[in-house]
Amino acid sequence: KDRVPLVFYWIPWVGSAVTYGTQPYEFFDNCRAKYGDCFSFMLLGRVMTVYLGPKGHEFVFNAKLSDVSAEAAYSNLTTPAFGEGVIYDVPNWKLMEQKKFAKVALTTESFIQYVPLMVDEIMKYFKTSPDFQGKKGEVDVLKSQPEMTLYTASRSLMGKDLRNMLNAKYAGWYSDLDKGFTPLNFAFPYLPLPGYKLRDKAHAHITNTYMELINKRRKESGTHERDLVDALMNNSTYKDGTKMTDQQIANLMVGVLMGGQHTSAATSSWFLLHLGERPDLQEELYKEIKDTIGDKPLQWQDLQKMTLMNNTIRETLRMHHPLHSVFRKVIHDLPVPGTKYVVPAGHFVLASPGWSMTHEEFFPNSQHFEPHRWDKLGGAGGGFKKEDNADEKEETVDYGFGKISKGVSSPYLPFGGGRHRCIGEHFAYTQLGTLLVTFIRNFKWTSKVPEPDYTSMVVLPVGPAYIKWEKREK
Ligand code: HEM
Repeated sequence: KDRVPLVFYWIPWVGSAVTYGTQPYEFFDNCRAKYGDCFSFMLLGRVMTVYLGPKGHEFVFNAKLSDVSAEAAYSNLTTPAFGEGVIYDVPNWKLMEQKKFAKVALTTESFIQYVPLMVDEIMKYFKTSPDFQGKKGEVDVLKSQPEMTLYTASRSLMGKDLRNMLNAKYAGWYSDLDKGFTPLNFAFPYLPLPGYKLRDKAHAHITNTYMELINKRRKESGTHERDLVDALMNNSTYKDGTKMTDQQIANLMVGVLMGGQHTSAATSSWFLLHLGERPDLQEELYKEIKDTIGDKPLQWQDLQKMTLMNNTIRETLRMHHPLHSVFRKVIHDLPVPGTKYVVPAGHFVLASPGWSMTHEEFFPNSQHFEPHRWDKLGGAGGGFKKEDNADEKEETVDYGFGKISKGVSSPYLPFGGGRHRCIGEHFAYTQLGTLLVTFIRNFKWTSKVPEPDYTSMVVLPVGPAYIKWEKREK
């Protein structure tokens, strides 16, 4: 059996790291022109086998647990930031259970409770942030969106007490932890770098606060909020009878929050920038909101009725998938279906839904931001739709954290698929929808969409990325 062709490179070990790292989609296009959809490249001592397009999604997302491992691919990156005993620092069956534990805080009943809290946080931000004072002004979305994402997620998922603790000291810890969550970790997770020391200190401070919060809630009687803290306090016993420790629960909270932080902040940054070039869409969105709720306070049920709003998020995720590559480490020689190739154990496989979603073959006029391209799907409804998976045959599978569609051979796959599928999709749609509606109700804005920066943890606009806003006359 043959090896997948390896892209030529000059510098041993480093390989194609620079071209891949700075312009991954362009790199994939160039390799595809030479080798077709399946090729390998050298990345800092690792051999990565890329399989582009829907067949590649199937190959990577639906690969058998006995053949590939996500933890062996990601643990270097996530364990130093999240801490031990969670996500990719545990065997897969434990991750599946941890996702199930967290999902208790990600239900419709929870979202109904979260929306007014999120609106409240966003309005407070508009009132108090120096970037939103007066009748008009400008704001760097790379500053505002991470902050608004953190506040809305913390208030809803972690409760009022924790939100009230988010002061300057806390912001410093988050920022230190964040700086230690970089692609550099893939290659060097535990170097004695000053930034890494700060990261470990910040992790200790943050998880200690979470543990204090857990202890405080234990002393109070009954459960009060359907948030992540209560979910994990009441529901974190594995099927073998062992319980997660408080430190592990705190680490899981860090992991879940971080999983949503960068992805969601990047997505809202991009839609604000795109809408700044499309005043027509801002007015259409304003009309949709007026027609749906008039001047009433927003509720989660209303978001489900706002088709254009949801399609705006959908289109943003198509053009700007936050994660340009998804990896697994191969642990058993893995034949590539439909080819004569075998990927040997020790190599990595890579899928890139972000490439398919921005490719002309699957999305004509792919570089044009057009939420209306999704109109024919009709309806709205919190993100995932059956139609996203074109050849899905109603077949679902349950890995423990709820039934999910088995079909992953769609070109549109922003939340992945299979056992590692995202559990945060509906939360993300709730948070992003609430944010978008509240922005449109209060402001009009203009901007120019910057180029993407592929070198950061998630694909962000090159900064600073300003929008010029003015208050909407009501
Ligand atoms: C997994 C995307 C928001 C928590 C994933 C995966 C993708 C993804 C592509 C699969 C990764 C893989 O297969 O290797 C996104 C996007 C988001 C988003 C585009 C927002 C726009 C969130 C939020 C949360 C979250 C808000 C938490 C509330 C997770 C978790 C996993 C995951 C726990 C599972 C990891 C695993 O099983 O290996 N996400 N996500 N995500 N995401 Fe998200």
